[in-house]
Order: sequence, then structure tokens, then C-alpha cells
Amino acid sequence: MIHFQNVTKDFDNQTALKDISFSVDKGQMVFLTGPSGSGKTTLLKLIYLAERPDNGEIIIDGYDTSQIKDSGIPLVRRSIGIVFQDFRLLENRTVFENISIALRIRGIGEKETKTRTYDVLKNVNLRHKADSYPKRLSGGEQQRVVIARAIVPEPVILLADEPTGNLDPDTAEGVMNTFKNVHAKGTTILIATHNRELYRNTGNKVLRLDSGNLIGEEFGR
Ligand SMILES: Nc1ncnc2c1ncn2[C@@H]1O[C@H](COP(=O)(O)OP(=O)(O)O)[C@@H](O)[C@H]1O
Ligand SMILES: [Mg+2]
Repeated sequence: MIHFQNVTKDFDNQTALKDISFSVDKGQMVFLTGPSGSGKTTLLKLIYLAERPDNGEIIIDGYDTSQIKDSGIPLVRRSIGIVFQDFRLLENRTVFENISIALRIRGIGEKETKTRTYDVLKNVNLRHKADSYPKRLSGGEQQRVVIARAIVPEPVILLADEPTGNLDPDTAEGVMNTFKNVHAKGTTILIATHNRELYRNTGNKVLRLDSGNLIGEEFGR
């Protein structure tokens, strides 16, 4: 589903990723870890084509991304859900509106939009907050809205960048349970985190970066 072969990415004179090769299979939940500055965010950006590699091959959902022109990026992004580090919710829109917008921009009709938005709100345990504004929600609730917005179009790949970065351990656990539910439905998930607690005892694949090098592939235990 995600395949990197000898990928290198430089910024100015600095190498952010060096000769990286790995694969994430369809339906896998994989963690990407490493200290701050090790290249996690850059690697995710290469997947959703916010950055392009200087060398190497990146295949996403069967597409050789080097063949995709900038004009084709929006189409590829339709199969990718992204949970950013900062929430980026629309403050003057309700929870329902923040999520349903992801369907409206895809031209999905009113009735289906409503059904799918309420379904996903149930999935993330926020059905009762549909009419609330983001400011009235806790950090964990806001993060679950962001996840709901990312998953409501049913992407084949879900990317998350430090999704529990600003959350206390209990709240982080709730957010991780949401990811587990999404994974159980068959979505391929890649989560960047420096928090070992997220993958400990999970048995999931963990890719470890250090200074732009992929220094290990292990399983969370
Ligand atoms: N747009 C950019 N311009 C210049 N350097 C960048 C840019 N984005 C990232 N970098 C550099 O690339 C390296 C990896 O950064 P990043 O991928 O954000 O790491 P992480 O997410 O693991 O903290 C860092 O040295 C960072 O300063
Ligand atoms: Mg980062």
C-alpha cells in the first residue's frame, strides 16, 4: 500500500531522509518513531505529496508517485486521510459541520452526508457533541473530531502526525482506541510518534528513524 525504495530527501544542504526503504502492507497499522528532527513529518509529507523526493521511488496505493503531476495530487489525496499535529478545526463551525465538510467538498449529497457524519461521530464517541463548537471541547475530543474528519471519506490510508502530542495519557488512550477501531475496519494506518507508550505491547510494526536514517524495523512489545 505504501512502498519506499531508496528514498532521499534534502532541504537546502541538509539531508532529512537518507536512502529509506520500507513497505506498509494493506490493512497494516505501523508506527513511525524517532527523536524530534529525525524525519518523521517529512516522511509523511512525501506520502501525501506535500514534498517530493530527491531520489528513490515512492509507490502509494499502486501509483508510482513520480508519474503524478502536481495537478494530479488532489486525486491521490482523496485516498489518504491526514491527522495533522495541530488540530486545524474551523472554530466558527460546529463539530457536525467540521466533519461533514470533508464529504461536501467531494460532492456527496445532503442525505448521505448526514448519515455518514453521524455514523462516524458514533465511532469516535462524540454523537452528543455534534452541535458543539470546537472551543467547547477538551483536547482529546478535538483530536477525535480531527480523526473523524479524516476518516469520514473512508480513505484507504490514514496518516497521523503526533496525534497524541498534546494529550494526557488517559486521553491519548482514547484517541488510540479510535485508531484501533479504524484499523479493525481495514484501513491502512501510519502513525508518527515519539511516544513509546502508543506502540508498546501492541505487536505492531515500528519503523525507527534517527537523523534521517531508518535504523530499525521492530515490533512493539
Ligand atoms: N521545509 C523545510 N525546510 C528546511 N528544513 C526542513 C524542512 N522540513 C523539515 N526540515 C528539516 O528536516 C529534518 C527532519 O524534520 P522533520 O521531518 O520535521 O522531523 P520530525 O518530524 O521527526 O521532528 C529536520 O532537520 C528539519 O529541520
Ligand atoms: Mg514532526
